[in-house]
Amino acid sequence: MCGIVGYVGQKTALPILLDGLKRLEYRGYDSAGFALFSGSNFLIKRNAGPVEGLADISEDLGKTEHLGIAHTRWATHGAPTEINAHPHRAGEIVLVHNGIIENYSQIKERLMKHGAQFSSQTDTEVFAQLIEHHRKLLTNKTPKENPESIILAALKTSMSEVEGHYAILLMSQTVPGKIFGIQNGAPLVVSKLKDGCLIASDIQAIIPYHNEVCFLPQGEIFIIDSGDIHCKNMHFEKIDWSADKVEKDGFESFMLKEVFQQPLVVADSLSGRLPIDSKAPFIWDHQKSHEVLWKNAKRLYLIACGTSFHAAMTAKYFFERWAKIDCQVDIASEFRYRDPIFEPGTVVGVISQSGETADTLAALRLANAAGVSTFSICNVKNSTISRESGFQYPTKAGPEIGVASTKAFTSQLTILCALALDIGRLRGINQSGENSDLSFHALARLPHDLDRILKQSEIFINMGATLKDQRIILFVGRGTMYPIALEGALKFKELTYLPSEGFAAGELKHGPIAYIDKDVSIVVLAPKDEWYAKTISNLEEIRARGGHIIAIGTEGDTETSKVANEFIGLPEAAWGTQPILSVIPLQLLAYGCAKALGRNIDKPRNLAKSVTVE
Ligand code: AGP
Ligand code: GLU
Repeated sequence: MCGIVGYVGQKTALPILLDGLKRLEYRGYDSAGFALFSGSNFLIKRNAGPVEGLADISEDLGKTEHLGIAHTRWATHGAPTEINAHPHRAGEIVLVHNGIIENYSQIKERLMKHGAQFSSQTDTEVFAQLIEHHRKLLTNKTPKENPESIILAALKTSMSEVEGHYAILLMSQTVPGKIFGIQNGAPLVVSKLKDGCLIASDIQAIIPYHNEVCFLPQGEIFIIDSGDIHCKNMHFEKIDWSADKVEKDGFESFMLKEVFQQPLVVADSLSGRLPIDSKAPFIWDHQKSHEVLWKNAKRLYLIACGTSFHAAMTAKYFFERWAKIDCQVDIASEFRYRDPIFEPGTVVGVISQSGETADTLAALRLANAAGVSTFSICNVKNSTISRESGFQYPTKAGPEIGVASTKAFTSQLTILCALALDIGRLRGINQSGENSDLSFHALARLPHDLDRILKQSEIFINMGATLKDQRIILFVGRGTMYPIALEGALKFKELTYLPSEGFAAGELKHGPIAYIDKDVSIVVLAPKDEWYAKTISNLEEIRARGGHIIAIGTEGDTETSKVANEFIGLPEAAWGTQPILSVIPLQLLAYGCAKALGRNIDKPRNLAKSVTVE
């Protein structure tokens, strides 16, 4: 979601800006634009569509400019049109913005009373006009003051008036050769290159150029020129990873490739962490402090959004059963506005693929501010969430490009499963009869079991295609299969745009059963676990109302295959790894149906990979 790139230096700016925008494309956006400073004026181009289109319309431009800012927009205020795309110009300044200005309408009204006219519907243009308004006032008041100080003062005053979160870059005709900026709740990272300075909202746009970067401090105004970055409290650090290879490797889509990478990435996430046997400790990056943290933990909050939230929900079962710890889960956008109880011994864990999800980050900051221990399960090293969390238990799924999260989810579940098993051992919980030993061994065997399931991929994809004309698809399950049912429904709706819902199987009779008839397909997750008999009763209830049942169960389960219209058998699995295995067919069902409908698999409409607005 939304990307920013800025460059000032000896090189021609435009190719660097466009290359940066391309690298940020995976985050999701709907329009793109740039502004170059050509010595006396701005050259602005915007496109209500992909960066490629922007590059096409700029083919003969930008050959001589060495200074510029660029943006990919994910529309929050105003439709994704060319007029609303960034950069926005106001008088002498031009600006790009990530985030939201919450009180934009009050400010707009005020500025209109002073004669301001707006050409777009965006909150961003309001911010631009506000800064320009103050810049003009200050210039009139102190005409002898140097223009740079005036911009800085205008920025400061504007910051005190806007509410919301934002990262902006700004160029002014009054101060050639410089980029100004602020960040407040949205990240910006900067690097000093041999030939200039590069700034972006995501490290992916910088790392191909240089591996020493500074994550700019919150709330500080900064200035960048071709030689240096001027900002208080800067700390540069070396990033020990290279530009990620993001290719489809012969797959039709990134999503499909990522589904098939799951055996490998689960193995990578476990690599070096598995103990020699089920009695020995798992190996974490910060062993001693890990032990202290969990021995003293009294309550655990697991907080996340979307698919990562479903990982949290599943993990609640693991933590309660194996670690006997009070585990509460919540959606980040709810948790952060509640009044959670932070007592001594409270631990807050946030789960995020991208590490930049605005609400999850805000929940983490809330917990950090309350002084409790925090940790993250995050897939992007050096992301804001990784950096700001007390402890890190990283997943190693590699870059996930498909907007629909797949391999990140199974990697999160793998780490959560390992963590809960380890914490149970650490806390001396008697695991007998709790299936933990079995789950420990199953964890080691997980890549192999995932591989076996993926061998049936064609069956799942073809079955998904048969669902393309359905009115609604339901997903139901009990216990750990309940969050997996929610995840199946989420994958289905985001990829196919068809209505789909997930339910706890026991809840069906409390409402959802009302819309079951012969035109409704229901995916029932019915592995041979401890809730099996109850799930089968629910399956019978659905059958009695004529619903079309697709059961996902355990290989060789003739009872379920008899009552279901269609049956998919998965290898028998331990309780702890069952959810990790059961989600695979659901990912592929959604994929198969979306493909049959001709949907954009990697970039479903309206969605973004990195959700940086609240
Ligand atoms: C998953 O398929 C979705 N695209 C979405 O729900 C995602 O999981 C959510 O936005 C959270 O993202 P994060 O894991 O990067 O924090
Ligand atoms: N709120 C701004 C807009 O709608 C910025 C969106 C973004 O971060 O891309 O234009």
